[in-house]
Amino acid sequence: MEVFHKSVLITGANRGIGLAFAEACAKEKAYLILAIRNFDTELVEKLKKLGAPTVEVVECDLVSKEGVAQLVEKIKDKRIDLLFNNAGLLTGGLLEEQPLDDIYNMFQVNVNALVHLTHAVLPRMLAQKSGKIINHASVSAVMHFPCATTYAASKAAVWAFTDCLEQEIKGTGVSTLCLFTPGIKTRMFDKIDDLYSKNFETPKDSISPETYAQKILNAVKNDQVYLEPTGATGFAFMIAQNFKSLFNWAAAQRFKRS
Ligand SMILES: NC(=O)c1ccc[n+]([C@@H]2O[C@H](COP(=O)([O-])OP(=O)(O)OC[C@H]3O[C@@H](n4cnc5c(N)ncnc54)[C@H](OP(=O)(O)O)[C@@H]3O)[C@@H](O)[C@H]2O)c1
Repeated sequence: MEVFHKSVLITGANRGIGLAFAEACAKEKAYLILAIRNFDTELVEKLKKLGAPTVEVVECDLVSKEGVAQLVEKIKDKRIDLLFNNAGLLTGGLLEEQPLDDIYNMFQVNVNALVHLTHAVLPRMLAQKSGKIINHASVSAVMHFPCATTYAASKAAVWAFTDCLEQEIKGTGVSTLCLFTPGIKTRMFDKIDDLYSKNFETPKDSISPETYAQKILNAVKNDQVYLEPTGATGFAFMIAQNFKSLFNWAAAQRFKRS
């Protein structure tokens, strides 16, 4: 699918990967709808300067069902060609040390909001007989490390949800893209060490959000169903998929309980 003059809704478009993808779409002259927590005049101007004919901001907080419902109400009459469910939260560390409220909030933003928004936008896309839904999973959906219990569970849920949906909508003109994202240098990536390093030696490889946004855009244009990692992470991803005991053994070498 081309994004030229398409209407693109992105959650979490104010920074990180969401922002880099918004910039890439602006350069392709897409009509942008940014679902972000706070209005940002500078951001709107920047995206217009890059080439977006229009940039609308829909303020929302995805951390509650009511917050997502308010977003759904605000966008109910808008055409949406591309929905990027990108906003996310990170949790980590030994399970018994993760604050329960953080776990609930993370599942709400990473999974419930993504399902809710897809549920709201899909009928419109089916009526249009066109559209694409990008769901942000992670390599963690497949590569199961100690200290990643809750976050990995959320991303595995995103993968399963997207995989099932792709089969349901085959032939309708609407399709999905599931991102198995590796380390990308964002604020979330910088938080990994804080949450994990006490017990787990995390991989340090990362690429820039701009480079990754270009990969996402190419995957959209090529109508890929998955975007998988390449290089060393791609190799580890393949091991995790095909040689689970070997992967888990290697992960255990980097883990200590105390
Ligand atoms: N970076 C990586 O290495 C990596 C790897 C795999 C997957 N991912 C996934 O990539 C996605 C984007 O992450 P990122 O790396 O770009 O991280 P980031 O820079 O921390 O950005 C996270 C985005 O999510 C938004 N968000 C969080 N809670 C929200 C809420 N309650 N309501 C609305 N928006 C909310 C943030 O908005 P605020 O600025 O308002 O907080 C921000 O725009 C996430 O789904 C993440 O799980 C990232």
